[in-house]
Parts: sequence; C-alpha cells; structure tokens
Amino acid sequence: MAKAKVIKLHQSSCTPPLPVTQPYLPSADKYMHYVAKAFDNKWITNGGPLLTELTDRLKEYLGVKHLLLVNNGTSALQLAYHIKGLKNKTVATTPFTFPATLTALTWADANVHLSDIQKDSWNLSAKAVLDDMETQDIDAIVPVNIFGVPCELEEFDQIGQAHNIPIIYDSAQSLLTKYKGKSIFDYGDIHCISFHATKLFHTCEGGALVFKNKEDLERAERLINFGIQELGEVHDPGINAKMSELHAAMGLCTLDDLPMLIENRQQSVERYHKLLANLVEFQTTTYDCDVPPMYMPVKFSSVEELEAVERNLAGNGFMARRYFYPGNHKFMTQKHCELPNNRNATDKILCLPLMHNLSKQHIHSIVKIINKTLIQ
Ligand SMILES: Cc1ncc(COP(=O)(O)O)c(C=O)c1O
Repeated sequence: MAKAKVIKLHQSSCTPPLPVTQPYLPSADKYMHYVAKAFDNKWITNGGPLLTELTDRLKEYLGVKHLLLVNNGTSALQLAYHIKGLKNKTVATTPFTFPATLTALTWADANVHLSDIQKDSWNLSAKAVLDDMETQDIDAIVPVNIFGVPCELEEFDQIGQAHNIPIIYDSAQSLLTKYKGKSIFDYGDIHCISFHATKLFHTCEGGALVFKNKEDLERAERLINFGIQELGEVHDPGINAKMSELHAAMGLCTLDDLPMLIENRQQSVERYHKLLANLVEFQTTTYDCDVPPMYMPVKFSSVEELEAVERNLAGNGFMARRYFYPGNHKFMTQKHCELPNNRNATDKILCLPLMHNLSKQHIHSIVKIINKTLIQ
C-alpha cells in the first residue's frame, strides 16, 4: 500500500464522534416500571424477586437448567476456575481474547498456557491444544467463543472426556450463539457470560454462569454469598458476587427489547457484509452456526492498511477499535509466545462501529472511507 493520504468526507463526517459501540438504554419510564417494584418490595439485593424473575426468564429463553446470575463476567470466570480447582494447575487457553479470561486465571493461581488460534474463526484451535499436550501437561482448557463465533465445541468435549479434564468456556460474548442448531450450553462443564453494558443483552454490569452439573450450581450459589450456608455457617469460603435488583431491572428491560435489538444490529451487520465483501476478510467457520450480531470485526491484509483505515475513520469521527491489541501474550511470561495465527489476528483485525441505533448513512460513510483508503 502506498503512503496513506488523509481522507476527509465533508458531508458525512460524524460529530460528535461515533463510538465503536453504545449501550442500549431503555426509556427512563420503562426502567422505572421495574425499579418501582424493587421500591415497593423494599428489596434491592440478595436474591430478590426481580433477580428471580430475570433468572427464570433467561432459563426459559436459553433453554438451560442450571443458570446463576452474578455481578459481572469476570466474577463468573473466577468462580468457575475456583470451582474446578485450577490453583497450581496448567490451563490451555487462547491469547486472542479480552484480558479478563487470562487475568482471572492468574488470580486463581493457575499457570496459563497459550495455544494458537485458528486462521479463519480466530478461536482457540483444538489441534494446537492437542499438539501442545504432547509436550505439556494440561489440566483444563478455557476456550473463548470470540466475537460470538462458537469454538470447535465437539472437539473440545472429546479432549475433555479423553483426558478427564474440565472444559470451561469463556462465553462472555456468546450468550445467544447456536452451534449446529443447538445451544452452545450443551457443551463443556461451565460457561461464563458477561452482561456488561456493551453487550447485546446487558444488566449495566453483570454476568452469569451456566453449569452442566447441579452440584456445581449449588456450590456456586453459596460461594457468591460469601460461602454462607443455610444455618449461617461458612465451610467453603466464598466472595460477594451477587447481582442487585437494580441491575436485574435493567436486564428485564433489555430482555423485553432483545428481539428489536437483535434485528437492528443484524441489519447493520448484513449491510456491512454486503458493502465490504471485496475489501476485507470476515470471521468464518467450517461448521454451521448462528452468531449474534454483537461485534463487527474485519480483517485487513496488512497492519499498515488497518492503521490507515483506523486513522481515516477517526479523522471523520468514527471510532473503530482494535480489540485484543497489542495482544495478551505481551504481558504473559510464557516463553514460546510467538503464535503465528494470533499475531496475524491481533495485527490485522479492527472492529467497526456497531450498535442498535447505527444508521444506514453511518455505515455508508464508514465503508466509503475504507474503500477510499484501500484503493489509493
Ligand atoms: C471474552 C471476555 N471475557 C471476559 C469479559 C469480562 O466480562 P465483564 O466485563 O462482565 O467482567 C469480557 C468482557 O467484555 C469478555 O469480552
């Protein structure tokens, strides 16, 4: 690519700047409809009626039995790692993820082993993990369904069963993902989900765990409340990871409006795909899956192209974001960290603006800037 020229679109620049995403906010009236119930109940935390309502509705919506709501996705990861006893164990995971996947492992005193990702899905490669297992003892695997695209769920289940090790999914970004027409929650031992404000379904801050085993759910229910048991004793020390009624109220609003939120973002994703088809690469998989329209990642052919596009978008008021850059392996101590597919992904993937209220005009302006940058 020749030295990049600065591109300025006079008519369609965005002021104030458009962020990469924006949280969905219901009307204040709608939120207050639920909050008023908390006031009437005089109950704002510790397993109140709104939390129960949200738990029941989510269980039905997702078709899962063992769901526990918590205060954020990072707590969900910490609880899962604690429940599966990962202290001083070696855990294979992906470098192409949000830092919390890995920082929560270090908090659990686990040893992090990074294996490479797949070229097309940008997810942890089951083959790379198996290859690494030939020379390294691995006690658990934490795959991440990155940008909502499911991992090789069947392959990881097979590895888990063959080696008798837990598979814990960081499903922070994949609440609504389907794999071969089935729920992703049918696979693995535990899924950890984030309901952060930027997610398609959110509770401002919040998260959830989905367990295969009822015993793990029951233990987690105690652990999120300091480990206190029915008679007030603590035998298994826990933490405070409870979701409040006010957060559950936001979740109930978002759940009411979820079909509309999905539809709006889906239209934007389809428009981006159509207009960018010959300019960039998209995340793909070899198997059938439904991916929720949560992010709009695109891959450029070089880091120079990506940086020129990012600069020109910012110059016109559109804030794109390089997720997972400069790369988690930079701050891990592991020696063999030159993982080629990960390097390729971290260098060349940029997330374009995506939110429920993104206009057709915004997308056309963004694509025009990308087009002009790449063809100059
Ligand atoms: C892959 C991944 N893991 C973990 C987290 C942490 O979740 P939270 O922000 O709810 O703590 C996030 C949050 O965005 C995430 O995307």
